[in-house]
Amino acid sequence: MKFSTRAATNGDLKAITDIYNEAVLTTDATFDLEPKTEDEQRVWFTGHDRMHPVLVAEVDGTVVGWASLSEWSSRSAYAGTAEISLYIKEEFQGKGAGRRLLEDIMREGERVGLHTMLSRITTGNTVSIRLHESLGFEHVGVMREVGEKFGRRLDVLLMQKIYPA
Ligand SMILES: CC(C)(COP(=O)(O)OP(=O)(O)OC[C@H]1O[C@@H](n2cnc3c(N)ncnc32)[C@H](O)[C@@H]1OP(=O)(O)O)[C@@H](O)C(=O)NCCC(=O)NCCS
Repeated sequence: MKFSTRAATNGDLKAITDIYNEAVLTTDATFDLEPKTEDEQRVWFTGHDRMHPVLVAEVDGTVVGWASLSEWSSRSAYAGTAEISLYIKEEFQGKGAGRRLLEDIMREGERVGLHTMLSRITTGNTVSIRLHESLGFEHVGVMREVGEKFGRRLDVLLMQKIYPA
């Protein structure tokens, strides 16, 4: 399937929110337990500046996934560090959109001058872990039992990639 990516706009917020809420309700990929409103996502989106891009993936003009780089910490010494989020609409998973978005958001991070990217991935999410590994992310370590969702305590793997100097 042929996917294209582009910078997200306010007009994409409904699609971004719907894709995120599908993951909130049906997966342990995100530790949110309640769906977000479009207004909450607008606040989240407005908080993304030039250094913290949001991309969407489209097929035939329909948004099927999104990726973002978010501030890891508001403390200034962390300015070169960002955290990746990546969500593909369920019916379009496994068709290459996740790889395409992750490659493109990594390129965006390099373009805006970030030094390193982090991803927090629930340890059972082998598709995401393998995808990150294949693009050069390394395992930092596992945070044990930091979440609880669908009646299970969940471990989270922290993965990292440092841009080449
Ligand atoms: C994890 C996720 C982002 C991956 O995106 P995707 O579009 O489904 O994955 P892709 O089609 O790009 O495939 C990526 C790799 O995983 C493999 N893969 C994809 N789905 C798979 C599956 N169900 N089983 C095994 N391997 C799979 C692909 O073969 C591919 O590897 P390759 O390029 O070496 O062939 C997506 O499935 C998703 O949004 N899941 C729910 C939310 C989530 O987990 N987000 C990540 C939070 S860290």
